[in-house]
Amino acid sequence: MSNLVRTFKPQAKNFDESIKQLYFSLAADKVGGAARDQAKEYLQDQLSQARTLRNELPERLSDLAPWMHERAAAVGEEYRQYLSVRKGGAPRRFFTNRSHALHFLQAVAPTKLVDGAWLYGLLPRWKDLDYLPLIRTYLEELGDGIAEKNHVVLYKKLLTTHGCEQWRDLDEEHFIQGAIQLCLAHEADQFLPEVIGYNLGYEQLPLHLLITAYELNELGIDPYYFTLHITIDNAATGHAHKALASLQQLQPLVGDAELFYRRVADGYRLNDLGANTMSVIRSFDLEKEVIDVFREKSMVGKNMHSDYCRVGGRTVNDWLSDAEQIPAFLKALEDAGWIVRGEPAEHSRFWRLIQGEHAEMFGVFNEYEQQLLRDWIALPVSSEKGRIPDAGATASRAPSFRMQQRQVAAAKRSGDSKRVQYIGTARSIFRKTHEHEGVDDFTSELRLFEQKLSSLNSEDAVMRTLINMMSPAHHHTKVGLMATRMFSKLIA
Ligand SMILES: [Fe+2]
Repeated sequence: MSNLVRTFKPQAKNFDESIKQLYFSLAADKVGGAARDQAKEYLQDQLSQARTLRNELPERLSDLAPWMHERAAAVGEEYRQYLSVRKGGAPRRFFTNRSHALHFLQAVAPTKLVDGAWLYGLLPRWKDLDYLPLIRTYLEELGDGIAEKNHVVLYKKLLTTHGCEQWRDLDEEHFIQGAIQLCLAHEADQFLPEVIGYNLGYEQLPLHLLITAYELNELGIDPYYFTLHITIDNAATGHAHKALASLQQLQPLVGDAELFYRRVADGYRLNDLGANTMSVIRSFDLEKEVIDVFREKSMVGKNMHSDYCRVGGRTVNDWLSDAEQIPAFLKALEDAGWIVRGEPAEHSRFWRLIQGEHAEMFGVFNEYEQQLLRDWIALPVSSEKGRIPDAGATASRAPSFRMQQRQVAAAKRSGDSKRVQYIGTARSIFRKTHEHEGVDDFTSELRLFEQKLSSLNSEDAVMRTLINMMSPAHHHTKVGLMATRMFSKLIA
């Protein structure tokens, strides 16, 4: 048991710096003293807000375990009901269409790309058994250094696959959760009960995670990042269980146990600040997103079209010269028959300009932007904003992600898929490359890191160097993954 004598009490202050700026300075290669001072100030500010929210935790720490199990059972029951109404023909509850789901993936990216960060500050305590469950949780977030299991790598791949990489332009509120996690990462020494409380809140399995995974799969989007969290957060043996075990182990024997638990409850409520899954899902406005895409394209496109390209009597360059004209331009495209709303996108001439073998604007719109356009065109003008009326029916026609996977596996067995041949060729090239692996520009970073570790003459120095490379900024890089693998082995 640890004896935590708590003397530090966060004071409420008004934080008036940019949250985005703080997020990026704490996710940077090197985190300076000024950024850490801001982190403290920001956490104090956020905690004062968290304290105004309803405290869900039971009054006594001893009641936490049954409380957690009751909640997990209630979530299971709600999910069972969800599945039952869906089976009965109810439409999707979260995502009206595919672009809605992709918008969600992009909008929660600032949080997901620092997944697990709040536990980083515990790594220097690796010699203390009391912190091991939380350190193990952090290592599992990092996939123990295996890229295919590292949560940040997985999320990055998801964003890249679907062209959802423009998350840096999101509003400040989307960065609040990520900023809180990064602040906790760098200030664990002063906010340990809050880290434990935040972890307890984050690792409970919520209903929205189950529904998100189910509906992403329906829409043909890989749900693995989300299903992975359903299994690892479980209350019986997973991260939720470890979170509770750590809290029980770390409560003070000599210090003020009540104050400690109050601070745990404050940290728990930090999870409720800023944009969250439900607010992000509700905020989706298909029309606005399509207009924003065209506004952005107009910056480059306003000088790219020839004078022969005319819509509604005006040149396309003229339409695009002022971003404010975009809604009128889209209306003009509809009036001129370039876009036929309420019908599959393939029926529109404009769609054929961006998709197809001889598409003149091929490559202008990425996958996410094309999906927005496709859903917007298919949406009848009179429909409720952003909602396709037969969303459920649409799902039953489109192959789910798992169905697609089964189709690829079947194609592989029959050997008739060019895609599978390509994958096979890529794998054999990969194997050959590694057989002859030497020091070159691609591997020099790993070699240099190995050399650096070999030159160190104490265990502490080695562990410090590894921990530095396992920060939220580094752990998902090649060197960071290698450092994580080594750290995992050394503390096993
Ligand atoms: Fe995670």
